[in-house]
Amino acid sequence: MSVNFSSNPMFNGTFSEPCRVEADVFDLEVEGELPADLDGAFYRVQPDFIYPPRYANDVPFNGDGHVSMFRFANSHVDFKCRYVKTQRYKAQVAARQALYGTYRNRDTDDPSVRKLSGGTANTNLIFHAGKLFAMKEDSPPVRIDPHTLETLDDYYTFNGRLKSETFTAHPKLDPISGEMVALNYEARGNGSRDVAIYSFDKTGAVNWETWVKVPYAGMIHDFALTQKHIAFLVIPMAVNMEQMKQGGVHFAWDSTLPTWLGVLERGGDGSDLRWFKGPEQSATHVLNGFSDGSKVYLDMDMSTGNQFPFFPMLHEPYDFQRAAGRLTRLSVDLAGKAETYDKEILYPEIGVLPRADERYWSLPYKVGFMPVTNLARPMDPALTGNTGLVLNTWTRFDHDRRKSTAFLVDNVSSLQECQFVPRRSDAPEGAGYLIGLCNRHVERRTDLLILDAEHLDAGPIATVKLPLRLRNGVHGHWVAGEALRGKK
Ligand SMILES: [Fe+2]
Repeated sequence: MSVNFSSNPMFNGTFSEPCRVEADVFDLEVEGELPADLDGAFYRVQPDFIYPPRYANDVPFNGDGHVSMFRFANSHVDFKCRYVKTQRYKAQVAARQALYGTYRNRDTDDPSVRKLSGGTANTNLIFHAGKLFAMKEDSPPVRIDPHTLETLDDYYTFNGRLKSETFTAHPKLDPISGEMVALNYEARGNGSRDVAIYSFDKTGAVNWETWVKVPYAGMIHDFALTQKHIAFLVIPMAVNMEQMKQGGVHFAWDSTLPTWLGVLERGGDGSDLRWFKGPEQSATHVLNGFSDGSKVYLDMDMSTGNQFPFFPMLHEPYDFQRAAGRLTRLSVDLAGKAETYDKEILYPEIGVLPRADERYWSLPYKVGFMPVTNLARPMDPALTGNTGLVLNTWTRFDHDRRKSTAFLVDNVSSLQECQFVPRRSDAPEGAGYLIGLCNRHVERRTDLLILDAEHLDAGPIATVKLPLRLRNGVHGHWVAGEALRGKK
Protein backbone atom coordinates (compact mmCIF):
# COMPACT_ATOMS: atom_id res chain seq x y z
CA MET A 1 0.00 0.00 0.00
CA SER A 2 1.47 3.35 -0.98
CA VAL A 3 1.82 6.15 1.53
CA ASN A 4 -0.98 8.76 1.52
CA PHE A 5 -1.74 11.18 4.34
CA SER A 6 -4.38 13.26 2.59
CA SER A 7 -7.45 11.31 3.70
CA ASN A 8 -6.96 12.14 7.40
CA PRO A 9 -8.18 15.64 8.41
CA MET A 10 -5.54 15.64 11.18
CA PHE A 11 -3.06 16.69 8.50
CA ASN A 12 -5.10 19.58 7.05
CA GLY A 13 -3.28 22.88 7.25
CA THR A 14 0.20 23.90 6.19
CA PHE A 15 1.85 23.28 9.55
CA SER A 16 -0.18 20.16 10.29
CA GLU A 17 0.95 18.45 7.09
CA PRO A 18 3.68 15.84 7.60
CA CYS A 19 7.29 17.03 7.34
CA ARG A 20 9.14 13.66 7.17
CA VAL A 21 12.41 15.32 6.19
CA GLU A 22 15.81 14.60 7.69
CA ALA A 23 18.18 17.40 6.76
CA ASP A 24 21.43 19.22 7.43
CA VAL A 25 21.71 22.88 6.48
CA PHE A 26 25.08 24.48 7.05
CA ASP A 27 25.18 28.21 7.87
CA LEU A 28 21.54 29.24 7.64
CA GLU A 29 20.63 32.55 6.05
CA VAL A 30 20.00 35.27 8.64
CA GLU A 31 18.18 38.60 8.35
CA GLY A 32 19.46 41.07 10.92
CA GLU A 33 22.41 40.37 13.19
CA LEU A 34 22.80 37.18 15.20
CA PRO A 35 23.87 38.17 18.71
CA ALA A 36 27.58 37.39 19.06
CA ASP A 37 27.01 36.00 22.58
CA LEU A 38 24.40 33.46 21.46
CA ASP A 39 26.35 30.24 21.97
CA GLY A 40 24.56 26.93 22.34
CA ALA A 41 21.94 24.68 20.81
CA PHE A 42 18.20 25.08 20.55
CA TYR A 43 16.60 21.66 20.35
CA ARG A 44 12.89 21.17 19.69
CA VAL A 45 10.70 18.21 18.81
CA GLN A 46 7.60 17.74 16.69
CA PRO A 47 5.29 14.72 16.41
CA ASP A 48 5.63 13.73 12.76
CA PHE A 49 3.93 10.48 11.67
CA ILE A 50 6.35 8.51 9.51
CA TYR A 51 3.34 6.56 8.20
CA PRO A 52 -0.35 7.52 8.12
CA PRO A 53 -2.16 6.37 11.30
CA ARG A 54 -3.82 2.95 11.17
CA TYR A 55 -7.04 4.27 12.72
CA ALA A 56 -9.12 7.34 11.95
CA ASN A 57 -9.58 8.09 15.67
CA ASP A 58 -5.85 8.60 16.25
CA VAL A 59 -4.66 11.99 17.57
CA PRO A 60 -1.81 14.36 16.64
CA PHE A 61 0.03 13.46 19.86
CA ASN A 62 0.77 10.02 18.43
CA GLY A 63 3.22 11.17 15.75
CA ASP A 64 6.80 9.91 15.64
CA GLY A 65 9.33 12.13 17.43
CA HIS A 66 11.29 14.34 15.02
CA VAL A 67 14.01 16.51 16.59
CA SER A 68 15.48 19.74 15.19
CA MET A 69 18.69 21.39 16.35
CA PHE A 70 19.77 24.97 15.71
CA ARG A 71 23.42 25.23 16.75
CA PHE A 72 24.55 28.81 17.39
CA ALA A 73 28.21 29.84 17.65
CA ASN A 74 30.37 32.76 16.48
CA SER A 75 27.41 34.60 14.89
CA HIS A 76 26.53 31.60 12.70
CA VAL A 77 23.84 28.97 12.99
CA ASP A 78 23.77 25.43 11.56
CA PHE A 79 20.68 23.22 11.36
CA LYS A 80 20.02 19.54 11.62
CA CYS A 81 16.82 17.48 11.94
CA ARG A 82 16.38 13.76 12.50
CA TYR A 83 13.68 11.33 13.48
CA VAL A 84 14.30 9.80 16.87
CA LYS A 85 15.07 6.17 16.08
CA THR A 86 12.64 4.70 18.58
CA GLN A 87 11.77 1.02 18.62
CA ARG A 88 8.49 2.06 17.05
CA TYR A 89 10.14 4.07 14.27
CA LYS A 90 12.56 1.26 13.39
CA ALA A 91 9.86 -1.42 13.27
CA GLN A 92 7.56 0.69 11.11
CA VAL A 93 10.29 1.71 8.68
CA ALA A 94 11.38 -1.93 8.33
CA ALA A 95 7.78 -2.90 7.54
CA ARG A 96 7.14 0.22 5.41
CA GLN A 97 3.81 0.78 7.16
CA ALA A 98 2.22 1.81 10.45
CA LEU A 99 2.25 -1.08 12.92
CA TYR A 100 1.17 0.82 16.00
CA GLY A 101 -2.50 1.48 16.67
CA THR A 102 -4.33 4.38 18.18
CA TYR A 103 -3.06 6.76 20.87
CA ARG A 104 -1.62 4.91 23.88
CA ASN A 105 -3.78 1.84 23.31
CA ARG A 106 -1.37 -1.04 22.84
CA ASP A 107 -4.19 -3.52 22.21
CA THR A 108 -4.71 -1.83 18.84
CA ASP A 109 -1.09 -2.45 17.79
CA ASP A 110 -0.07 -5.07 15.28
CA PRO A 111 0.89 -8.25 17.22
CA SER A 112 4.42 -8.03 15.80
CA VAL A 113 5.23 -4.94 17.91
CA ARG A 114 3.44 -5.67 21.18
CA LYS A 115 6.70 -6.50 22.96
CA LEU A 116 8.44 -3.38 21.71
CA SER A 117 8.29 0.02 23.35
CA GLY A 118 5.39 2.18 22.21
CA GLY A 119 7.27 5.37 23.01
CA THR A 120 7.38 8.05 20.33
CA ALA A 121 9.85 10.44 22.05
CA ASN A 122 7.79 13.26 20.52
CA THR A 123 7.12 15.72 23.34
CA ASN A 124 10.16 17.32 24.93
CA LEU A 125 13.94 17.23 25.33
CA ILE A 126 16.19 17.75 28.31
CA PHE A 127 19.95 17.83 28.83
CA HIS A 128 21.27 16.54 32.16
CA ALA A 129 24.61 15.17 33.30
CA GLY A 130 26.00 15.46 29.77
CA LYS A 131 23.16 13.46 28.21
CA LEU A 132 20.36 14.62 25.93
CA PHE A 133 17.01 12.86 26.18
CA ALA A 134 13.89 12.93 23.99
CA MET A 135 10.77 12.10 25.97
CA LYS A 136 7.17 10.93 25.78
CA GLU A 137 5.30 10.47 29.04
CA ASP A 138 4.19 6.88 28.39
CA SER A 139 7.67 5.37 28.23
CA PRO A 140 11.31 5.73 29.36
CA PRO A 141 13.39 8.47 27.72
CA VAL A 142 15.36 7.95 24.53
CA ARG A 143 18.97 9.12 24.65
CA ILE A 144 20.22 10.99 21.60
CA ASP A 145 23.59 12.45 20.71
CA PRO A 146 23.54 16.24 21.37
CA HIS A 147 25.86 16.92 18.43
CA THR A 148 24.65 14.50 15.72
CA LEU A 149 21.06 13.78 16.92
CA GLU A 150 21.74 10.07 16.32
CA THR A 151 19.83 7.82 18.71
CA LEU A 152 22.15 6.23 21.29
CA ASP A 153 19.69 4.29 23.48
CA ASP A 154 16.05 3.72 22.49
CA TYR A 155 14.96 2.72 26.04
CA TYR A 156 17.07 4.50 28.65
CA THR A 157 16.56 3.27 32.23
CA PHE A 158 19.37 5.09 34.09
CA ASN A 159 21.50 1.96 34.40
CA GLY A 160 18.45 -0.12 35.26
CA ARG A 161 17.41 2.10 38.19
CA LEU A 162 14.21 3.37 36.54
CA LYS A 163 11.52 0.93 37.70
CA SER A 164 8.64 3.07 36.53
CA GLU A 165 7.17 1.99 33.17
CA THR A 166 6.78 5.65 32.31
CA PHE A 167 8.83 8.85 32.49
CA THR A 168 7.53 12.40 32.44
CA ALA A 169 7.95 14.63 29.39
CA HIS A 170 8.63 17.52 31.79
CA PRO A 171 11.52 16.76 34.13
CA LYS A 172 12.74 19.74 36.14
CA LEU A 173 16.31 20.81 36.76
CA ASP A 174 17.16 22.20 40.20
CA PRO A 175 19.48 25.17 39.52
CA ILE A 176 20.93 25.02 43.05
CA SER A 177 21.71 21.30 43.43
CA GLY A 178 22.03 20.36 39.76
CA GLU A 179 19.51 17.55 40.28
CA MET A 180 16.94 16.45 37.71
CA VAL A 181 13.53 15.50 39.11
CA ALA A 182 10.90 13.45 37.27
CA LEU A 183 7.29 12.68 38.22
CA ASN A 184 5.94 9.73 36.26
CA TYR A 185 2.25 8.80 36.19
CA GLU A 186 0.64 5.47 35.28
CA ALA A 187 3.96 4.16 36.51
CA ARG A 188 2.72 0.56 36.72
CA GLY A 189 0.96 0.60 33.36
CA ASN A 190 -2.25 1.78 31.75
CA GLY A 191 -4.80 3.06 34.23
CA SER A 192 -2.60 2.48 37.27
CA ARG A 193 -2.93 5.09 40.01
CA ASP A 194 0.78 4.82 40.78
CA VAL A 195 3.05 7.83 40.46
CA ALA A 196 6.80 7.28 40.72
CA ILE A 197 8.98 10.27 41.58
CA TYR A 198 12.71 10.17 40.98
CA SER A 199 15.55 12.54 41.57
CA PHE A 200 18.91 12.20 39.81
CA ASP A 201 22.05 13.88 41.13
CA LYS A 202 24.26 16.01 38.94
CA THR A 203 26.05 12.90 37.68
CA GLY A 204 22.74 11.34 36.60
CA ALA A 205 22.56 8.76 39.42
CA VAL A 206 19.24 8.15 41.21
CA ASN A 207 19.36 9.80 44.66
CA TRP A 208 15.68 9.68 45.60
CA GLU A 209 12.72 7.51 44.62
CA THR A 210 9.24 7.44 46.08
CA TRP A 211 5.93 6.01 44.92
CA VAL A 212 2.52 7.53 45.70
CA LYS A 213 -1.09 6.87 44.66
CA VAL A 214 -3.38 9.40 43.01
CA PRO A 215 -7.20 9.59 43.54
CA TYR A 216 -7.86 8.58 39.93
CA ALA A 217 -5.72 7.93 36.85
CA GLY A 218 -5.80 11.24 35.02
CA MET A 219 -3.30 13.07 32.87
CA ILE A 220 -0.38 14.51 34.89
CA HIS A 221 1.50 16.07 32.03
CA ASP A 222 3.64 18.43 34.09
CA PHE A 223 4.47 19.23 37.72
CA ALA A 224 6.14 21.92 39.80
CA LEU A 225 9.41 21.57 41.62
CA THR A 226 10.20 23.92 44.49
CA GLN A 227 13.22 23.89 46.78
CA LYS A 228 11.17 21.98 49.38
CA HIS A 229 8.18 20.48 47.62
CA ILE A 230 6.68 18.81 44.60
CA ALA A 231 3.22 19.91 43.49
CA PHE A 232 1.08 18.47 40.72
CA LEU A 233 -2.46 18.47 39.39
CA VAL A 234 -4.62 15.49 38.50
CA ILE A 235 -7.16 16.74 35.92
CA PRO A 236 -10.37 15.18 34.58
CA MET A 237 -8.57 14.05 31.41
CA ALA A 238 -9.07 10.56 32.77
CA VAL A 239 -7.70 7.29 31.50
CA ASN A 240 -10.70 5.44 30.10
CA MET A 241 -10.12 1.69 30.09
CA GLU A 242 -13.64 0.99 28.76
CA GLN A 243 -13.05 3.25 25.76
CA MET A 244 -9.69 1.57 25.18
CA LYS A 245 -11.30 -1.91 25.20
CA GLN A 246 -13.47 -0.68 22.34
CA GLY A 247 -10.45 0.48 20.35
CA GLY A 248 -10.55 4.06 21.53
CA VAL A 249 -7.76 6.39 22.59
CA HIS A 250 -6.25 6.51 26.09
CA PHE A 251 -8.11 9.49 27.57
CA ALA A 252 -11.59 10.98 27.73
CA TRP A 253 -12.68 14.17 29.49
CA ASP A 254 -14.96 13.35 32.45
CA SER A 255 -16.45 16.62 33.76
CA THR A 256 -17.93 14.85 36.80
CA LEU A 257 -14.44 14.43 38.26
CA PRO A 258 -12.83 17.01 40.54
CA THR A 259 -9.35 18.41 40.02
CA TRP A 260 -6.86 17.41 42.70
CA LEU A 261 -3.70 19.27 43.67
CA GLY A 262 -1.16 17.02 45.37
CA VAL A 263 1.74 18.43 47.41
CA LEU A 264 4.55 16.47 49.06
CA GLU A 265 8.02 17.14 50.41
CA ARG A 266 11.10 16.37 48.37
CA GLY A 267 13.30 13.63 49.74
CA GLY A 268 10.63 11.97 51.91
CA ASP A 269 8.80 8.66 51.65
CA GLY A 270 5.65 10.27 50.20
CA SER A 271 3.52 9.64 53.30
CA ASP A 272 3.17 13.40 53.82
CA LEU A 273 1.35 13.80 50.46
CA ARG A 274 -1.67 16.07 50.91
CA TRP A 275 -4.56 16.52 48.50
CA PHE A 276 -6.41 19.77 47.84
CA LYS A 277 -9.64 19.62 45.87
CA GLY A 278 -10.94 21.92 43.14
CA PRO A 279 -13.75 21.89 40.57
CA GLU A 280 -13.44 20.54 37.02
CA GLN A 281 -10.51 22.42 35.51
CA SER A 282 -7.66 21.85 33.12
CA ALA A 283 -4.06 22.95 33.18
CA THR A 284 -1.38 21.41 31.07
CA HIS A 285 1.89 23.22 31.72
CA VAL A 286 3.68 24.68 34.70
CA LEU A 287 5.42 28.03 34.33
CA ASN A 288 7.13 27.63 37.69
CA GLY A 289 6.56 26.83 41.35
CA PHE A 290 8.13 27.91 44.61
CA SER A 291 7.78 27.46 48.36
CA ASP A 292 7.67 30.26 50.94
CA GLY A 293 7.72 28.77 54.41
CA SER A 294 4.68 26.52 54.65
CA LYS A 295 3.13 28.02 51.51
CA VAL A 296 3.49 26.42 48.10
CA TYR A 297 2.78 28.26 44.84
CA LEU A 298 2.15 26.74 41.42
CA ASP A 299 1.72 28.85 38.25
CA MET A 300 0.00 27.14 35.31
CA ASP A 301 -1.89 27.84 32.06
CA MET A 302 -5.32 27.05 33.48
CA SER A 303 -8.74 26.77 31.85
CA THR A 304 -12.11 25.63 33.14
CA GLY A 305 -12.56 22.89 30.53
CA ASN A 306 -10.76 20.39 28.31
CA GLN A 307 -7.89 21.94 26.31
CA PHE A 308 -7.57 19.10 23.78
CA PRO A 309 -10.43 18.96 21.23
CA PHE A 310 -9.31 15.60 19.82
CA PHE A 311 -9.94 13.67 23.04
CA PRO A 312 -13.56 12.48 23.52
CA MET A 313 -15.90 14.36 25.86
CA LEU A 314 -17.96 11.95 27.99
CA HIS A 315 -20.83 14.21 29.03
CA GLU A 316 -21.06 17.36 26.90
CA PRO A 317 -19.83 18.83 23.60
CA TYR A 318 -16.39 20.39 23.36
CA ASP A 319 -16.37 24.07 24.34
CA PHE A 320 -13.60 26.22 22.85
CA GLN A 321 -14.46 29.09 25.22
CA ARG A 322 -13.80 26.90 28.24
CA ALA A 323 -10.55 25.64 26.70
CA ALA A 324 -8.99 29.12 26.92
CA GLY A 325 -6.06 28.99 29.34
CA ARG A 326 -4.83 31.92 31.41
CA LEU A 327 -1.79 32.15 33.60
CA THR A 328 -3.13 31.16 37.00
CA ARG A 329 -1.52 30.87 40.42
CA LEU A 330 -2.62 28.03 42.69
CA SER A 331 -1.50 28.18 46.30
CA VAL A 332 -1.83 26.17 49.50
CA ASP A 333 -0.64 26.67 53.07
CA LEU A 334 0.57 23.38 54.49
CA ALA A 335 0.36 24.85 58.01
CA GLY A 336 -3.42 25.22 57.63
CA LYS A 337 -6.22 22.69 57.49
CA ALA A 338 -7.86 23.86 54.25
CA GLU A 339 -8.85 21.05 51.91
CA THR A 340 -9.06 23.24 48.83
CA TYR A 341 -6.48 25.33 46.99
CA ASP A 342 -6.59 29.07 46.40
CA LYS A 343 -6.68 30.23 42.79
CA GLU A 344 -5.82 33.59 41.27
CA ILE A 345 -5.84 34.41 37.55
CA LEU A 346 -2.67 36.49 37.13
CA TYR A 347 -3.16 37.92 33.62
CA PRO A 348 -6.06 38.14 31.14
CA GLU A 349 -4.14 36.88 28.08
CA ILE A 350 -5.23 33.56 26.56
CA GLY A 351 -2.34 31.23 25.80
CA VAL A 352 -0.53 27.95 26.27
CA LEU A 353 3.01 26.61 26.75
CA PRO A 354 4.34 29.06 29.40
CA ARG A 355 8.12 29.13 29.88
CA ALA A 356 10.32 30.51 32.65
CA ASP A 357 13.90 31.67 32.83
CA GLU A 358 14.92 28.13 33.79
CA ARG A 359 17.75 29.36 36.02
CA TYR A 360 14.83 30.20 38.37
CA TRP A 361 13.02 26.86 38.23
CA SER A 362 11.94 25.90 41.78
CA LEU A 363 12.77 29.39 43.11
CA PRO A 364 10.79 32.59 43.76
CA TYR A 365 10.80 34.29 40.38
CA LYS A 366 9.53 37.38 38.57
CA VAL A 367 9.47 36.72 34.81
CA GLY A 368 7.52 34.38 32.55
CA PHE A 369 6.88 34.02 28.81
CA MET A 370 3.94 32.51 26.94
CA PRO A 371 2.63 32.27 23.37
CA VAL A 372 -0.80 33.87 23.38
CA THR A 373 -3.68 34.55 21.02
CA ASN A 374 -4.44 38.13 20.10
CA LEU A 375 -8.16 37.80 19.39
CA ALA A 376 -8.26 41.19 17.70
CA ARG A 377 -6.08 39.85 14.90
CA PRO A 378 -7.54 36.47 13.77
CA MET A 379 -5.95 34.60 10.89
CA ASP A 380 -7.73 33.40 7.80
CA PRO A 381 -8.72 29.74 8.51
CA ALA A 382 -7.89 28.98 4.88
CA LEU A 383 -4.28 29.64 5.80
CA THR A 384 -4.20 27.76 9.09
CA GLY A 385 -6.45 24.85 8.17
CA ASN A 386 -7.96 24.63 11.64
CA THR A 387 -10.65 26.31 13.68
CA GLY A 388 -8.71 26.54 16.93
CA LEU A 389 -7.06 29.64 18.31
CA VAL A 390 -3.91 30.68 16.51
CA LEU A 391 -0.88 31.71 18.55
CA ASN A 392 0.26 35.00 17.06
CA THR A 393 1.93 36.68 20.04
CA TRP A 394 4.81 36.02 22.42
CA THR A 395 4.14 37.69 25.75
CA ARG A 396 6.43 38.46 28.67
CA PHE A 397 4.96 38.71 32.15
CA ASP A 398 6.73 40.73 34.86
CA HIS A 399 5.14 39.65 38.11
CA ASP A 400 6.53 42.43 40.31
CA ARG A 401 4.66 45.02 38.22
CA ARG A 402 1.93 42.61 37.03
CA LYS A 403 2.65 43.91 33.59
CA SER A 404 2.82 42.19 30.23
CA THR A 405 4.64 43.18 27.04
CA ALA A 406 4.23 41.48 23.69
CA PHE A 407 5.47 40.78 20.20
CA LEU A 408 2.63 40.38 17.67
CA VAL A 409 3.66 38.63 14.46
CA ASP A 410 2.27 39.61 11.03
CA ASN A 411 -1.16 38.35 10.00
CA VAL A 412 0.04 35.60 7.65
CA SER A 413 2.33 33.97 10.23
CA SER A 414 1.83 32.12 13.49
CA LEU A 415 4.15 31.27 16.37
CA GLN A 416 5.20 28.09 18.11
CA GLU A 417 6.51 27.75 21.67
CA CYS A 418 9.09 30.33 22.75
CA GLN A 419 12.26 29.68 24.73
CA PHE A 420 14.18 32.08 26.95
CA VAL A 421 17.98 32.14 26.60
CA PRO A 422 19.98 34.12 29.18
CA ARG A 423 22.46 36.62 27.75
CA ARG A 424 25.13 35.19 30.06
CA SER A 425 24.92 32.55 32.74
CA ASP A 426 25.04 35.32 35.39
CA ALA A 427 22.68 37.77 33.62
CA PRO A 428 19.71 39.08 35.67
CA GLU A 429 16.45 37.11 35.45
CA GLY A 430 14.77 37.68 32.07
CA ALA A 431 17.80 39.44 30.52
CA GLY A 432 18.59 37.71 27.27
CA TYR A 433 16.81 36.45 24.18
CA LEU A 434 13.44 34.95 23.38
CA ILE A 435 13.66 32.50 20.51
CA GLY A 436 11.28 30.12 18.78
CA LEU A 437 9.79 29.03 15.50
CA CYS A 438 7.53 31.10 13.30
CA ASN A 439 5.23 29.48 10.72
CA ARG A 440 5.16 31.42 7.44
CA HIS A 441 1.80 30.27 6.08
CA VAL A 442 1.98 31.84 2.62
CA GLU A 443 5.59 30.87 1.95
CA ARG A 444 4.99 27.41 3.54
CA ARG A 445 8.31 27.77 5.32
CA THR A 446 9.68 28.05 8.84
CA ASP A 447 11.77 30.81 10.41
CA LEU A 448 13.41 31.00 13.79
CA LEU A 449 12.96 34.41 15.43
CA ILE A 450 15.32 35.96 17.96
CA LEU A 451 14.05 38.82 20.10
CA ASP A 452 15.53 40.82 22.93
CA ALA A 453 13.55 39.35 25.82
CA GLU A 454 13.46 42.75 27.54
CA HIS A 455 12.09 44.53 24.45
CA LEU A 456 9.62 42.15 22.81
CA ASP A 457 7.62 44.99 21.31
CA ALA A 458 10.68 46.02 19.22
CA GLY A 459 10.29 42.83 17.15
CA PRO A 460 12.98 40.37 16.06
CA ILE A 461 16.62 41.40 16.16
CA ALA A 462 17.41 38.47 13.87
CA THR A 463 15.38 36.09 11.69
CA VAL A 464 16.97 32.75 10.88
CA LYS A 465 15.52 31.54 7.60
CA LEU A 466 15.02 27.84 7.12
CA PRO A 467 14.67 26.58 3.52
CA LEU A 468 12.07 24.03 4.58
CA ARG A 469 8.86 23.65 6.56
CA LEU A 470 8.80 22.10 10.01
CA ARG A 471 5.50 21.06 11.60
CA ASN A 472 3.87 22.61 14.62
CA GLY A 473 6.06 21.22 17.36
CA VAL A 474 5.67 20.70 21.05
CA HIS A 475 8.58 21.71 23.29
CA GLY A 476 12.09 23.05 22.93
CA HIS A 477 15.14 23.10 25.17
CA TRP A 478 18.18 25.38 25.12
CA VAL A 479 21.59 24.00 26.05
CA ALA A 480 24.45 26.47 26.55
CA GLY A 481 27.62 25.96 24.53
CA GLU A 482 29.75 25.50 27.62
CA ALA A 483 27.53 22.60 28.73
CA LEU A 484 27.75 21.02 25.28
CA ARG A 485 31.53 21.30 25.47
CA GLY A 486 31.42 19.55 28.83
CA LYS A 487 32.58 22.55 30.80
CA LYS A 488 29.48 22.84 32.99
FE1 LIG B 1 4.16 19.50 27.50
